[in-house]
Amino acid sequence: MNYRHGFHAGNFADVLKHVALLELMRLLTAKDRKLFVLDTHAGRGGYDLGGEQAVRSGEWRDGIARVLTADAPPPAVQRYIKAVRGYDRKFGIGGEMLAHYPGSPRLIRPLLRAGDRCILCEAHAGEAALLRREFAGDKAVEIRASDGYAALKALLPSPERRGLILIDPPFERSDEFPRAAHALAGALRRFATGVYALWYPLKDEAAVALLRAAIADMASRALDLELSLVRPIPAEGLHACGLIVINPPWTFDESLRAALAWLARTLRRDSSGQGSLRWLAGAP
Ligand SMILES: C[S@@+](CC[C@H](N)C(=O)[O-])C[C@H]1O[C@@H](n2cnc3c(N)ncnc32)[C@H](O)[C@@H]1O
Repeated sequence: MNYRHGFHAGNFADVLKHVALLELMRLLTAKDRKLFVLDTHAGRGGYDLGGEQAVRSGEWRDGIARVLTADAPPPAVQRYIKAVRGYDRKFGIGGEMLAHYPGSPRLIRPLLRAGDRCILCEAHAGEAALLRREFAGDKAVEIRASDGYAALKALLPSPERRGLILIDPPFERSDEFPRAAHALAGALRRFATGVYALWYPLKDEAAVALLRAAIADMASRALDLELSLVRPIPAEGLHACGLIVINPPWTFDESLRAALAWLARTLRRDSSGQGSLRWLAGAP
């Protein structure tokens, strides 16, 4: 495994994924019932934007940095900015620009209530050790230095009837698309009412089309969010990505529609960049 999320933390793909993740957390914790959260590919939890990886790639400057300086963000993006700034402030540096960026575990954690449960899986030993250090002494999260796909099998269905499962693989393996689709199909068979969010890169259009068709077959309600910065998509680099959300809570589509339009205007690299949202299954 060569992938290190430190190069990509806070880029446009993280922005899309994390705006949606926070909105899912907000809506799923609005009711009294206990929530189980599983982050199958958690990364190291938090990222130093002054660290070697972030400095070398500079990707966050075209992602979160642009979001922070743009006008009139819609409510879901405002909440995301607040969460990101809240994490950064813990380091006591402050200032207009960020020094640290929260990964998915650090965005999930503040929204957990007493009695909610969260399990974070990270298969890379070095990243998992950093994740443990990030959450040292925190009893609200359980960290597993193991395969996130195996966790889907082992942990679902959860005793809590509400579950949010984030699946955010690195897509460095050529079979990641079918692997993710297969894992999701099994998870849905065991836990049909769970809310699942699967991030994917939009580079290999044929693989994405197969994934979308598989989800449309296996899920009764599924929403596909897409953020593309340029069109047509060049072969090099990542310029478009998506997030498939199965069983999204009510009103999630409305707040993400507004967020996607704003994010596309803010982050696109030419006038053809766009954000879109469509139902793969169960359109209202
Ligand atoms: C895209 S990053 C995760 C980013 C994180 N979810 C966030 O939003 O901050 C993917 C992570 O998955 C880890 N990984 C790769 N294969 C894995 C597997 N089979 N199970 C669990 N983690 C894995 C990688 O080491 C990497 O840290």
